[in-house]
Amino acid sequence: MQTIPTIREMQAIVRAAKTSSTTIGLVPTMGALHEGHLSLVRTARAHCSHVIATIFVNPLQFGPNEDLAKYPRTFERDTELLMQEGVDYLFAPSAEEMYPQGAQTLVDVPELGNRLDGASRPGHFRGVATVVSKLLHITQPDLAFFGQKDAAQVAVLRRMVRDLNFPLEMVVCPTVREADGLAMSSRNRYLSNEERVQALALSRTLQTAKTLAQQAAATPATLREAMLHTLTSTDGVRVDYAAVVDPETLLDADDLSRETLLAVAAWVGTTRLIDNLLLPAREVQP
Ligand code: PAF
Repeated sequence: MQTIPTIREMQAIVRAAKTSSTTIGLVPTMGALHEGHLSLVRTARAHCSHVIATIFVNPLQFGPNEDLAKYPRTFERDTELLMQEGVDYLFAPSAEEMYPQGAQTLVDVPELGNRLDGASRPGHFRGVATVVSKLLHITQPDLAFFGQKDAAQVAVLRRMVRDLNFPLEMVVCPTVREADGLAMSSRNRYLSNEERVQALALSRTLQTAKTLAQQAAATPATLREAMLHTLTSTDGVRVDYAAVVDPETLLDADDLSRETLLAVAAWVGTTRLIDNLLLPAREVQP
C-alpha cells in the first residue's frame, strides 16, 4: 500500500491507472478505523481492481463546539489495518492540502442537509458534501463506499451525486454492530463503562420499534412515540431525535407502506451517538 499525502500525486496515480478495464473503488474515512470501515474496504476489495481509502479528519464538517480537536487519531494502526485488507492507496492529505488559503467554494444540499443530524449540527452536511466532492474529483472512483450507519449522510450524498452528475455508483454497506447490538462508531471509544451500557438504548429503541411495526395498527406516530419513550426512559441518555422518515427525503413518513427509516440520535454523557434501521415496505394484506 502506498500512502499519498498530496492531491497532485493522487491525481497522477489515478490518471495512470484509469483504463477501460480498471474499476476504482473509494472508501472515504476520517480514520479511527473499526470493523464498520473494514467491511467497506472488504466490499470494495471484492468489487474493484484498485482500492483507494482516504483518511482525513475534515475540519469543515465539525461545528465550533464539536469534537474536532479530540477526534480520535490512530493513524499508525489505521495504516496497518488498511494494509492488511489489501488497500492499494491510502490518500491522507493535510488540512492545508485540502483547504489551501483562499479556498471558498462549498457544496450545499440545502434541504436534505438541514434534516436529522443536519438540524442539530448546522453546516455539518455542507462540510461533508464539500469534502466528499473534492475526494470524488481527486480519486475519480467508479464505486464509492459508505456505511448505512450514517443514513442522513447517505441521503445527502446520493442527492449530491445525482445533482452534480458524478459518474459513479454509491454502494451503501450494512451497519456493523458489536455482539450486544451497539452500532460500531469511532466515537464509542469516548464512552465510560457505564455509558457503554446506557448507549445500548439506541439499538434497543430501534428493535422495539421494529417489533411494534409488525402490528397491523402501527403507524409512524405510534413508532415515534415508542422510540421516544424507550430512549427517554434510560438514565444518562438525552435524546436529539427519534425519527420515522422516508430514507430518501428524510421527511416524516405518512404511513409504513413504503420502505421507512427509523433513526435515532442521542447524547450519552457528552458523546453524541446515532443509529438507524431500515424497515422494508409493509406488505399490503389482501
Ligand atoms: O462518514 C465519514 O466518516 C465522513 O463523514 C466522510 C464521508 C469520510 C467525510 O469526511
